[in-house]
Amino acid sequence: MSIFAILAYPASHSLSPAMHNAAFQYLKLPHRYGRCEIKPEDLESFFKGDAKNYTGFSVSVPHKETCMQFLDEIDESAQIIGAVNTIIQKNGKLKGYNTDYLGFIHSLCEHFNPQEKTILIIGAGGASRAIVYALKESNVKKIYIWNRSSEKAKQLAEEFEIEAINDIFTIQDEVDLVVNTTSLGMKGKDEGKSPILKEFWKSHHTAYDIVYTPTHTQFLIDVVSANAIAISGERMLSFQALYQVKLFTEQNIPVDILEFGLHLSKRTFDHFEAVKFTEKEKKDVLKTIVVNKSSELFLSFEYEINPIKNKIPHVFLHALQKEKQTPHIIAEIKPASPREGKLIRENENIENIAKEYKEGGATALSIITDYVFFGGLVHNISKVKKTISLPILRKDFIIHESQIAEASFYGADAVLLMRSVLTSQRLQELLEYAERLGLDALVEIHTESELLSVLNDTTAQIIGINARNLHTLEINPLNFSELLAKVKSHPRFSEIIWVAESGISSYDDIKKYASKANALLVGSSLMKSENKVESLKNLLYKT
Ligand code: ATR
Repeated sequence: MSIFAILAYPASHSLSPAMHNAAFQYLKLPHRYGRCEIKPEDLESFFKGDAKNYTGFSVSVPHKETCMQFLDEIDESAQIIGAVNTIIQKNGKLKGYNTDYLGFIHSLCEHFNPQEKTILIIGAGGASRAIVYALKESNVKKIYIWNRSSEKAKQLAEEFEIEAINDIFTIQDEVDLVVNTTSLGMKGKDEGKSPILKEFWKSHHTAYDIVYTPTHTQFLIDVVSANAIAISGERMLSFQALYQVKLFTEQNIPVDILEFGLHLSKRTFDHFEAVKFTEKEKKDVLKTIVVNKSSELFLSFEYEINPIKNKIPHVFLHALQKEKQTPHIIAEIKPASPREGKLIRENENIENIAKEYKEGGATALSIITDYVFFGGLVHNISKVKKTISLPILRKDFIIHESQIAEASFYGADAVLLMRSVLTSQRLQELLEYAERLGLDALVEIHTESELLSVLNDTTAQIIGINARNLHTLEINPLNFSELLAKVKSHPRFSEIIWVAESGISSYDDIKKYASKANALLVGSSLMKSENKVESLKNLLYKT
């Protein structure tokens, strides 16, 4: 396994891990791509120490120029540009490359052929150098450069043998393409501003903006208003990564793979739309969900590099072990479900639901993190963790160690493991992995044979009996008491914490179906309730 990372400060918002891990998954390589958030003052000691543990890096702000002094070799184009965005370690030697210029030219050429064209570059910083270099390599007719500080434009023009210009209106008719290389117009910074006056634009122009958040920058809005052509720099990000993948793996992949990674890492509940199963999928819902889960597994790969060990182990188990007159409630935050669509109301949010669950007397929370079918996001765990102090179970379709590492990273105390999607051997491996990170596991079963195999072949301590048939989604509330009765004389019976799952919505249900449970996992009925505090209290204390 080789390890790669984004080297930047800050690095926590970078989308590179999602893109590169998607590439590794697609290529079926065992590599992992993480984050190295290194402050400028710590860069030297990083290169003298931890950097040797990595096979390669993507480099971003503010290290693209400063990292060069620590490298053994620099590719010619990166040398001319004066910046490195990719580093490869081979035989203990570090070599720097630049793929930004390739990303630019590739994304430009999708819409515009620069050969024999006249181009105006706005800005004279680091990004501008890569773009000037790329265009110089592309048989263009002429390149002009304009910058707020004209002295910098002059210097760059001299170095690259292009022409600095003070008044862009003098070349208005001559210019075919204008490229904005400044950060002006970027979200949260100078949003709504453009580096040039809108009177400049004429319909024969094409404009390219390296700023892509927001997608519609003022620069591009003005261009479109003049009936000219606008190109967003969004694809530059994917194409520079595509060339990095080639350097990292010596293999070519379709750019769509990287964009799939980007798309998945940007999902939010605001854009969630409930899935509609086809008739064929309805016959085996669980299979459909697991196939999808496998396709997006790469999202958690980065957390496997240095898994966070929970500081206080067994918080979840200990909470459920506490003596209590009524069963413990594990209250579930389920934003949506395939059967019921969206469950969160307009006026509700995850944090407030968690607070209400706590007030209503829940012992722990279950947070569903599957997005496609349940509208969940793993970030919801840390949101809730910051708000209240209850133990948190990550409920998802866990099939790989990295999902457990991810759960730990976001602050979960336990994970759900389903016997129906894991062999008993794989289940035991994941139980041991969770144990090493200090996380508990709630092992869910649906049938007698699954229950026997969990009791006989694994070290599961918390077993959840689900009343829902996961293949058809139908509920049989008797499942809990019937299955429990079948294993009463099993030697491990009394050491297990038994959890009844699904189909419990009233105190009468508890009495009828689940009075022997140590805990109940309650999801849909609570999510549907308008007064969650009251509903929980009724469930627990009605006499
Ligand atoms: P990068 O490496 O991303 O290109 P940089 O080296 O800091 O960043 O360069 C930023 C570029 O954007 C420069 O050309 C800068 O102009 P100055 O040289 O005059 O500073 C330009 N820039 C930044 N903010 C700007 C603004 N508000 N108006 C016009 N140009 C701006």
